[in-house]
Amino acid sequence: MNSTSLIHHHPLTKRLANLLKKAGPKAWQASDFAGVDQLHLGGLEASKALAQWLPLNATRGLDIGCGLGGTSRYLVVNHGCSMVGLDLNNDYIQAAQLLNSHLPGLSDCHFVAGNSLALPFAEHSFDFVVSQHASMNIAQKAVLLAAVHKVLQVEGCLLLHEVMLAQDCAQTSVDYPTPWADQHDHSHLSHWPDFMQLAHAIGFKLIKFEDNTMDALEWLHKARNQPPSPPFTPNIALGPTAGRMSANMLRNLQQGRLQIVSALLVKASS
Ligand SMILES: C[S@@+](CC[C@H](N)C(=O)[O-])C[C@H]1O[C@@H](n2cnc3c(N)ncnc32)[C@H](O)[C@@H]1O
Repeated sequence: MNSTSLIHHHPLTKRLANLLKKAGPKAWQASDFAGVDQLHLGGLEASKALAQWLPLNATRGLDIGCGLGGTSRYLVVNHGCSMVGLDLNNDYIQAAQLLNSHLPGLSDCHFVAGNSLALPFAEHSFDFVVSQHASMNIAQKAVLLAAVHKVLQVEGCLLLHEVMLAQDCAQTSVDYPTPWADQHDHSHLSHWPDFMQLAHAIGFKLIKFEDNTMDALEWLHKARNQPPSPPFTPNIALGPTAGRMSANMLRNLQQGRLQIVSALLVKASS
């Protein structure tokens, strides 16, 4: 799609369109947008690490809660996948499409507005689903996991890179705002064992697990001391409270309130 065919109704998309215009014609690469389209702890490097867990025969992917679509683009460009990114936020979807329109080689990368709890796809549509920092606002985890299970083919996999509540930590002990919630009653963090218990009950098997909490803390320290170079920075997407969100995330991690996990789950054959 050509950028001129997009109508920029939304504030974030307008802001990005202006920045792109100001930068003038350039041979952009997907990684140029990593400062704004990798809205998770660990940034682009975390997406790269997660992608390493993808089985070789997994090509048709769905990125739920895709945000500005950085992970989808990475998987298309670097792993030859065909991706659909889905997000509840129309502004993010339009921004993701705008970024695509400035890059070559993305004919297999599409974005749709939608709800992860009611995925608008037929059964067995995908070889894998990826969810990166995208389940923290969702209270109905069982509905989410069932929706993902349905659209996966048998033996399809779910790649997770998620924020969980640390063991023995309560939802109310987390400081807000965070990048996903202004206040604690908008946040629906799980404890990892509870999440996995639900996933087992729905028909997933855990294949790989990694606790990334310490790496995330180290990354956040570095990112705060060395923010990405303008113009494509997380503040563009996160808005004026981005600084407070980042300071709260640092404190939440330092105080051991959050656990950052990566996991590969497989839809077990029944
Ligand atoms: C912290 S952002 C992460 C975006 C992206 N996965 C990334 O890592 O860059 C979380 C995203 O989840 C989306 N989201 C939250 N609840 C959702 C739902 N029920 N359905 C679809 N997207 C949802 C939000 O709109 C937001 O874009």
